[in-house]
Amino acid sequence: AQFAFGMVGLGTMGRNLLLNMADNGFAVTGYDKSEKMLQIFEEEGKSHNLKGYADINEFVESLQSPRTIILLVPAGAIVDSVILELQPLLDKGDIIIDSGNSYFADTSRRYLELKDKGIHFFGMGISGGEEGARFGPSMMPGGDKEAYAVVKNMLEAVSAKVNDEPCVTYIGAGASGHFVKMTHNGIEYAIMQLLAETYEILKNGLDYDNNQIQQVFESWNNGRLKSFLMEITKDVFLFKDVKTGNLLVDEIKDEAKSKGTGKWTSQVAMDVEMPIPIIDTAVSTRNLSKLKKLRVELNEAFGPTEKIKASKDFIDDLEEAFYFAMANAYAQGMHLLWKASIDYEYGLKMAEIAKIWRGGCIIRAEFLEDIYQAYKKQPDLQHLFSDANVQAKIKKSLKGTRNVVSSAISAGLAIPCFAAALTYFDTLKTGRMPSNLTQAQRDFFGAHTFERIDSEGIFHADWNQKNL
Ligand code: 6PG
Repeated sequence: AQFAFGMVGLGTMGRNLLLNMADNGFAVTGYDKSEKMLQIFEEEGKSHNLKGYADINEFVESLQSPRTIILLVPAGAIVDSVILELQPLLDKGDIIIDSGNSYFADTSRRYLELKDKGIHFFGMGISGGEEGARFGPSMMPGGDKEAYAVVKNMLEAVSAKVNDEPCVTYIGAGASGHFVKMTHNGIEYAIMQLLAETYEILKNGLDYDNNQIQQVFESWNNGRLKSFLMEITKDVFLFKDVKTGNLLVDEIKDEAKSKGTGKWTSQVAMDVEMPIPIIDTAVSTRNLSKLKKLRVELNEAFGPTEKIKASKDFIDDLEEAFYFAMANAYAQGMHLLWKASIDYEYGLKMAEIAKIWRGGCIIRAEFLEDIYQAYKKQPDLQHLFSDANVQAKIKKSLKGTRNVVSSAISAGLAIPCFAAALTYFDTLKTGRMPSNLTQAQRDFFGAHTFERIDSEGIFHADWNQKNL
């Protein structure tokens, strides 16, 4: 056996990660049923003399013990079928790392099934796309702690670095790695939607052209909003279509697709009763975008939106609104992780998660440094908005946020995630909510009982007695 690590699935992500591992001096090989994929892999890996296998037996035999096999195949049934193929060929103590965007409940099941057979199973989220895999992704591995020691050095070597520190850490037990990656993607959906709504405000509220829009995003990316998503978004506005010579962004249909991670984040959040409305709204807005025919029909029926009557500081207010809403996206995602860590006994270290998201991943951003510092100071912090530093910054951005949200809403522009961020925040800082009325109603029509302010216990009133 000659290789330290093997990859199943030599698509772009798999190949790029292997090339990254080879660059870092690790002896690696790959397995793929497709001869074409093997050829591309060997061609790209020429300088390292990389060779792959089309035969799974030979592939497994070529690996040193304990064997470490990384899967980069599409999430879902394919992961199960690959595991089924591999399992009889493996020995106790071998390690399988599923690096796709698998659903965390599938990972839990696979983890337990393989544990019974003495095989360590890791669910590892990888973020950063193709570039990240090739030159340094952020990685979120969850599974058996003792098996992590076998892969730690390799993962740290290939990961992105921030201040020389690797963007990978042991996340926690069971399916925690995939849970954290799923939540990362939920935050990704929310921030992408905020960027889209900012584009909507600039384009349809203020009549900015693509050049002017690019300039706004570019100037923000030189300040506290600096982030990977801001950076690529500004570049989108200048990209010319090869076919027509026009700006490509104007040629793309306004219907957004998704592969499921955002939806799962919202579904799970409902299960653990943790409110993350900015993520829910981002998922729903992608679904709204798919209703193209109905949107066009209703647009004709109800007429166009108005322009925003912007004051001269409006772009500064918009920057504040973006900062505020973005902070909400991260805060809600982190709050979900905090709850999941308790409910699923993941033992998450929140500061470590913020730390490894500072580089390599799609949601990397300047703001993650504030999040990291907040959880480092208070490892048990329940909500990011209880941190004094974040609180001070949020307070300063509120006036601009309220101006942007109310101006856009008055003009009839759709800004669902900006509005969701603000109403979430306003609700969260309401000392006494009107939910006493909800409880009264539930008890009125269904005898669902209520609790009282002045005494302990469960109460029911005979509301039909008309005690008026
Ligand atoms: C990442 C991305 C990656 C992928 C998304 C896209 O972190 O590198 O999140 O995982 O691009 O899954 O998701 P949708 O297709 O659902 O938008």
